[in-house]
Amino acid sequence: MHILAIETSCDETSASIVEDGKKVLSNVISSSSEIFATLGGVIPEAAARQQLTCIHPVITKALDDAGCMSDALDALAVTRGPGLLQSLLVGSTVARTLARLWSKPLVGIHHTFGHLSSPWLDVTEEILWPIITLSASGGHTELWLRRSHTDGDLLGSTRDDAAGEAFDKGAQLLGLPYPGGPAISVLGQHGDPHAYPFPSPLADLPSPDFSFSGLKTALKYLIRDSGEISEQARRDIAASYQHALCVHLLTGIEKSLHLHPEVREIHLVGGVSANIHLRSLIQEHIGERTLRTPKNIAYCTDNAAMIAAAAAFLIQAHPQVAFAPFETVASLPANFVFAVSQ
Ligand code: KG4
Ligand code: ZN
Repeated sequence: MHILAIETSCDETSASIVEDGKKVLSNVISSSSEIFATLGGVIPEAAARQQLTCIHPVITKALDDAGCMSDALDALAVTRGPGLLQSLLVGSTVARTLARLWSKPLVGIHHTFGHLSSPWLDVTEEILWPIITLSASGGHTELWLRRSHTDGDLLGSTRDDAAGEAFDKGAQLLGLPYPGGPAISVLGQHGDPHAYPFPSPLADLPSPDFSFSGLKTALKYLIRDSGEISEQARRDIAASYQHALCVHLLTGIEKSLHLHPEVREIHLVGGVSANIHLRSLIQEHIGERTLRTPKNIAYCTDNAAMIAAAAAFLIQAHPQVAFAPFETVASLPANFVFAVSQ
């Protein structure tokens, strides 16, 4: 089965063709993040205008790269939310138009379901259920217990900001560009992660929830009270802040494993899963279990291949829902991740 997917939830415009939910034939991503590098974050209207400029060339290139004509497609898929409304409208309007022109079914996919599906891309070996997935990006931070592609429970989520947002705001305080995650990692590479103490949010609660606002405030006061900061001190602050964010995410995974010791794999997905310090910290604490991250960094941050994978898994499990009139699926609440089980 060949699916053409479109993802335009934030500042990336992406189109991809994936075979049977796993084999990526093309994955084209155009990012407007450079425009926002000095601004500390995305401006929704500017992002949507970029989406309009890029969407057609990106789709054409995805078809060309895959050597695929529209008649070879079995279905189209598009991110239906959550995300920036103006950006989402560009992708879903184009997807609906193409689906109508080409007489193909169109599947609406929750953005998080896309991220949860990203570890299957370009992977041939069997992935073992049940799985605990940490999905951490600029918009959300969630822990899922998953029994199959379309059956899972939300174990915990953030009570305030998302982990990626904590990286982005922290970078802004340190005078670094957007997106902040990669910038903090690079600055902290030669810093001491134990040089500065940070709080451990919600550590005493059994539930694997997250809270990042206290960590951000601690960083703000640390910088304010440090006066003139040397280059080495900046590196130490970046490394310590990154370490504190990663330990907080690790604590959530450990609490989830305590509740569900039967879990066989831990998956890290979403933009923050690109963080090398986070990956090694978690690897050290999960014993014999497999730690799986998306096979390619381009599958960690926003991309259409993961949306095509999610659509294929949804069609396999529940064709009647996947092929329901697009309006029905599009009108589901934005937090409704799996179209059926939740
Ligand atoms: O999944 P994503 O591309 O978009 C959303 O759905 O939000 O995630 C973007 C977020 C940004 O906040 C960015 O700073 C963060 O992912 N990010 C990272 C890294 N690369 C991207 N955070 C930590 N370390 C990284 N290497
Ligand atoms: Zn995302």
